[in-house]
Amino acid sequence: MKILITGGAGLVGSECCKLFASDGWGVISIDNYTRGKLFGKESETSTTMMDLRKKYSIEHHEIDIRDEKIIEVVKKVDAVIHTAAQPSHPKSIEIPMEDFQINAYGTLFLLEAVRKYNKEIPFVFCSTNKVYGEAPNYFSYKKIGKRFEPIDPTLKDGFDESLRIDQMMHTPFGVSKAAADLYCQEYAHLYGLKTGIFRMGCITGGAAKAAEMHNWEPFFIKKALTGEELTIFGHAGYQVRDVIHAADLAKLFFEFIKKPRAGEVYNIGGARKNSISLIEAIDLIEDITNKKIKYKMGPEREADHIWWISNINKARDHYPAWNIRIGLKEVFEDIYKALGKK
Ligand SMILES: NC(=O)c1ccc[n+]([C@@H]2O[C@H](COP(=O)([O-])OP(=O)(O)OC[C@H]3O[C@@H](n4cnc5c(N)ncnc54)[C@H](O)[C@@H]3O)[C@@H](O)[C@H]2O)c1
Repeated sequence: MKILITGGAGLVGSECCKLFASDGWGVISIDNYTRGKLFGKESETSTTMMDLRKKYSIEHHEIDIRDEKIIEVVKKVDAVIHTAAQPSHPKSIEIPMEDFQINAYGTLFLLEAVRKYNKEIPFVFCSTNKVYGEAPNYFSYKKIGKRFEPIDPTLKDGFDESLRIDQMMHTPFGVSKAAADLYCQEYAHLYGLKTGIFRMGCITGGAAKAAEMHNWEPFFIKKALTGEELTIFGHAGYQVRDVIHAADLAKLFFEFIKKPRAGEVYNIGGARKNSISLIEAIDLIEDITNKKIKYKMGPEREADHIWWISNINKARDHYPAWNIRIGLKEVFEDIYKALGKK
């Protein structure tokens, strides 16, 4: 069995490469290292691919997902996991055209290749909770300890897939991803493709490359290690996120590929148990690293969520063999360990 993983050098892509290669799949990765060009040298993912290829047998092509050459790859694989993206919502405000070209057009280009040349294979799409734009911010929250919590008790387990996606601000990233997300759904409804759409919040782990505009967890840890000042954007750091390790996410994709359910949409994150506010994260990181983080408050970011916890019940129902295995502290320790090595 062979799988195509786009963005194979990235955080999620590299975990998927590891998992499928360890399971005996032939893994073909596509990544043109756009991440380094977008976020700078420290975010470069080519080193991740070099390290991966020392340990696993992975066929890697340094090409763009919009390159016609990808069609020959699509023809010969049994599944696709599409992770390649311009992944940052603040960055998309600077480069809306490129963001659209990669996220919306790039995904449609791949869907078309699958539809025309290999229609029966499962296709996993990495969407985002940013497709919900500012919708979570229309709910009321109160401060409890060092975090916000919703007033409405029915939200205790987080937002499910019924949250509305339009008629508010998103940033271009939220829009380009929503377009790709809807195309993936449409290609299931209209053409019968076995697409699975996974809407994530904060994915992280040892393979995460720190940038201020993407992957806040390693970025915060780096600030602890260097002693440089960190800026927290808005909400006094009480905003809540739910963190999932990329290895846990890869396992869910594995389950989906074994038993695809065409056109289904899933909210995925670390859920209530792996939820943390930014200020709580600072406490946790200080505890793990034994270093103090200097920080100041900055302006709120556009369409940034005040509170997001993913309700993952639907994914758990559909894929009962899957669950979150890596706890919050372990996730942060893994990043710390990986940064210590660099
Ligand atoms: N990391 C998160 O917290 C998070 C949250 C929600 C959704 N997502 C989504 O999950 C997916 C994976 O995210 P990630 O954190 O692994 O991102 P990442 O930046 O670590 O990896 C993406 C990879 O895709 C490559 N890439 C970008 N454009 C490309 C192109 N045109 N052609 C070929 N390769 C290209 C990059 O070089 C990079 O190696 C993305 O679709 C992202 O939007 C991520």
